[in-house]
Amino acid sequence: MEKIDLRTIKEQAGKEVEEAKELKDLDKVFKKYLGKKGKLAQIFSSLRNLGEKERAELGKEANRTRKFIEKKIKEKTPFISGAEISVSKGKKERFDVTVPGKKRLLGHLHPLTLIKRKAEEIFQTIGFSVVEGPEVENEWYNFDALNIPKNHPARDMWDTFYLKGGLLLRTHTSPNQIRYMEKNNPPFRIIVPGRIFRHEATDASHEINFYQLEGLMIGKDISAANFKAIIKEFLSKFFGKEIKIRLRPSYFPFTEPSFEVDINCLVCGGKGCKVCSKTGWLELMGAGMVHPSVLRAGGINPNYWQGFAFGIGIDRLAMMKYKINDIRLFYSGDLRFLEQF
Ligand code: PHE
Repeated sequence: MEKIDLRTIKEQAGKEVEEAKELKDLDKVFKKYLGKKGKLAQIFSSLRNLGEKERAELGKEANRTRKFIEKKIKEKTPFISGAEISVSKGKKERFDVTVPGKKRLLGHLHPLTLIKRKAEEIFQTIGFSVVEGPEVENEWYNFDALNIPKNHPARDMWDTFYLKGGLLLRTHTSPNQIRYMEKNNPPFRIIVPGRIFRHEATDASHEINFYQLEGLMIGKDISAANFKAIIKEFLSKFFGKEIKIRLRPSYFPFTEPSFEVDINCLVCGGKGCKVCSKTGWLELMGAGMVHPSVLRAGGINPNYWQGFAFGIGIDRLAMMKYKINDIRLFYSGDLRFLEQF
């Protein structure tokens, strides 16, 4: 008999909470069931007259009912109080619709991302496809396949972060020359932008991680003259004006002949500054005609195919474009710097 009572109490209280429209209504429900003289209090005081077993049982059930009603009321409260506040605000307060709104800070792209995208766009207009490759490489792709055998002194050209299990952080984007040649047949022209790592001391023009943009063009009779024309075209589109460049003979195990491309330092206009080490020229990329051994390692017959490859420093492009005199600024996370882009 009491059990049924408790069940109806539970049902009724639940329904009344549902129907409550104002805080006042919830208060009423609380008093009616959970108050000092409320329905549950009555049940608790009637326990006295019961035998031990019944008392324990009913007591438990009554406690459960109390918890249930408390929970219902607690869940409903925020809905009602929120509604009341907004209703009363509307009545009492007036809004001045002419007050300027709060300005929200908008995020934006990192300068290196802007430069990378711009470079990709220009290369795409001259027929290059954009591909990507892994930052963690193995020695085969980073060195051996690029004609840099184990124990060859040329490995010292790249100070490398070695990982466990024969892996390493790629020291350049050149491994992607091999990765692409393995899966694709010439003729083709691609660029591979990406992050690379060097175990080096940092200074105004060196960082331990930075970005490169690899280029590879293979065809029947692609020559160094084609390379020069394409790079000149790229640079003048990128900077929006004629850019002075010079090709210096150089050495890379994976190109023959090899050269380095310098551009007139745009930070100082060629007068000499800390970015160009007071020379007026800045090394922007390494390049050359792809070595026959590299073509072979990529599964391409060097008797039929030839071409050029290059690796542009994206950070250096950005430094020239925005006239920034320290590469470390890109990685400093300093908002005073980043907000200028
Ligand atoms: N991978 C070379 C470097 O990181 C650059 C390069 C790329 C040179 C392609 C020649 C051809 O220094």
